Amino acid sequence: MAQGYFVTGTDTGIGKTWTSLILMQYFQQKGKTVIGMKPIAAGCEMLGGQLKNEDALQLQEQSSIEIAYDLINPYAFSQPVSPHIAAKKAGQKVDIMQIQQVYLQLEALADVVVVEGVGGWMVPLNDKQDVSHLAELLNLPIIVVVGMRLGCINQARLTFAAIRQLGLRCEGWVASCVEENMQELDANIKTLEAVVGMPLLAIFPYEEKINLNNHKKISNKTLQP
Ligand SMILES: Nc1ncnc2c1ncn2[C@@H]1O[C@H](COP(=O)(O)OP(=O)(O)OP(=O)(O)O)[C@@H](O)[C@H]1O
Ligand SMILES: [Mg+2]
Repeated sequence: MAQGYFVTGTDTGIGKTWTSLILMQYFQQKGKTVIGMKPIAAGCEMLGGQLKNEDALQLQEQSSIEIAYDLINPYAFSQPVSPHIAAKKAGQKVDIMQIQQVYLQLEALADVVVVEGVGGWMVPLNDKQDVSHLAELLNLPIIVVVGMRLGCINQARLTFAAIRQLGLRCEGWVASCVEENMQELDANIKTLEAVVGMPLLAIFPYEEKINLNNHKKISNKTLQP
């Protein structure tokens, strides 16, 4: 049975996919087989008669084993809007139990499964449930990607408070430098270290052109396996 990780973040567009790809590479370099999953994607293009999402395609491409697109990304919606709205527009409803079933299939196929959430921690998936419910159901250690920009301390504190409230296990957080010149970056990271109370796993510096071969290694020693 694979070790899974659930990658969430402080917002949309802050480096969850990039972090997931780096994590996948990290485990692959340790000799593990890894699968990347993006259970719900809002913002898809029709490719070969099927709605496909850029993040999911990257995770599929980075996976150690060839996996059918439907398993990597069981819910693909065309509109780039909140998933519960995108699903309604598509006449569908996100069923987190269905996602768990697919996850369990993937878990049997590799040593590690990296699951990328959608948006932030409390993005609605349907009328009753949001990303946090999916993470709770999958019961995987959580990695929080903090997009380093103005406002991130507040967003990070709220995210960690919500994770703690559910009593879920958090592996730690990464600082994702999505802005070229964030003012007082170091002071912000120091503050986050002080207030978040979880291990800082890595700092991913701003890169003009992100490239999996050039990233900084994840410094965490507690990641298993
Ligand atoms: N370290 C970095 N340096 C420069 N640009 C980055 C860095 N990390 C991420 N980006 C850029 O920021 C944007 C968002 O990154 P990414 O797609 O990983 O975010 P996300 O949180 O997965 O977004 P979504 O909510 O759409 O899934 C992308 O254009 C990506 O290239
Ligand atoms: Mg993404």
